[in-house]
Amino acid sequence: MADDAAFDLLIRDATIVAPHRKIPHEWIVESADVGIRNKKIAAIGSLSSAYGKAEIQARGLTLLPGAIDTQVHFREPGSPEKEDLSSGSRAALFGGVTTFFDMPNTQPPTLTAIDVADKMSRAEKRSWVNYAFYAGASPSNINKLAELEKLPHVCGVKIFMGSSTGNLLIGSDENLEAAVSKLTRPFAVHAEDDARLKVRRHLVEENPGHVEMHPEWRDVETALIATKKITALAKKYGKRVHILHISTAEEIEFFKRNCKAEASNPFGHLTFEITPQHLTLAAPECYEKFGTRAQMNPPIRDKHHQDALWTAVRDGLATTIGSDHAPHTLAEKNKPYPQSPSGMAGVQTLLPIMLNHVHLGRLSLTRLVELTSSNPARLFGLSSKGSIEIGKDADFALVDLKAKKIITNSWIQSRCGWTPFDGFTVQGWVVSTIVGGQISMRDGEVIGSPKGSPALKT
Ligand code: DOR
Repeated sequence: MADDAAFDLLIRDATIVAPHRKIPHEWIVESADVGIRNKKIAAIGSLSSAYGKAEIQARGLTLLPGAIDTQVHFREPGSPEKEDLSSGSRAALFGGVTTFFDMPNTQPPTLTAIDVADKMSRAEKRSWVNYAFYAGASPSNINKLAELEKLPHVCGVKIFMGSSTGNLLIGSDENLEAAVSKLTRPFAVHAEDDARLKVRRHLVEENPGHVEMHPEWRDVETALIATKKITALAKKYGKRVHILHISTAEEIEFFKRNCKAEASNPFGHLTFEITPQHLTLAAPECYEKFGTRAQMNPPIRDKHHQDALWTAVRDGLATTIGSDHAPHTLAEKNKPYPQSPSGMAGVQTLLPIMLNHVHLGRLSLTRLVELTSSNPARLFGLSSKGSIEIGKDADFALVDLKAKKIITNSWIQSRCGWTPFDGFTVQGWVVSTIVGGQISMRDGEVIGSPKGSPALKT
């Protein structure tokens, strides 16, 4: 075959998880070769007479669209000892995450077009995977939000209703309403009620060292009040809200009544994310075992809440799984609670942990792909990503569903160097990650130079 007829990359004999060719948004598993040309998927099917300039023999392996993690905190600029765009994206690469959306609570926070441009230039040539950035909503930029959310490479606006790491907060109810009224794209929200957090802070101040009090301080009402408030505002103004890291059974009940698909918008005005750690760790054991390393906002709660989250994952109610990758150094985490910061690394373990849940029969592989690839792409308008289809970007996670591995701190690429899942045995492992048609990670080794590019087409 003439060289110009060759594929740049040919993946042979893979089991692929792909959209059903006839039924939109139904997923199937089939056996196929996948040919890649010019960073795009050029052919799917039986390509046994074709050849590739590079080839992967994938018999026995499963090809997924690369995961899109719509909630990471890569800490650049401001906290290189925790993470930066190079180390965070390398962690993503090792975990089969080929696109990330970075959060704005950096130092300085991402509040202006200049801040966004700064992050873009920092990511260029340094990011191992594809990227987009949230603009943060603050009292200082409410009147600019409508412009900010439309900037190239901005995936949307993030609103912190409750304080977490950093000082980015929307503040008053008036500010919140003004911000919501201005937005047109889906916006992401950290839904914890800040007034209630302030009133209840004494509970943990009076009991220093008791991290198991974290879900008491940041209780169910704290989350529910904020979730109801932001949903009411989104409804009032006809906006689309995506609520992050849902943690309570009560919110899931609320979503059952309020998440409704619409003819013009299959996701409706209200969508939500669940994290792997809320699905995997549970109180009180996680605090006994991991101490402040299990501390995050909103908190990990008991099994009753976890069961409700699983129902939402299984029955189709939840829209995305995001990692809320929020690295802190162990020195900071070792401070006595509540001085210890909230958050844990997660971008690298998202797929292995969730593939293990697939192995244990807790969700299907196709539902996982919906939650980690196709839904994030559809919700946030990444039209060229999220599925294995001709014409889409060649971003893949090649996984071995039979491989049994132990997650260890030494495998963690994040600058923080630890994971709450250290020592966990999982079945299901990312053996190779392909970004824009380039094999960038194979068998735990990076290959070549960073190949990430802007995730949103301008
Ligand atoms: O625990 C958390 N930590 N939750 C968040 O939403 C923010 C994050 C961080 O940035 O550390």
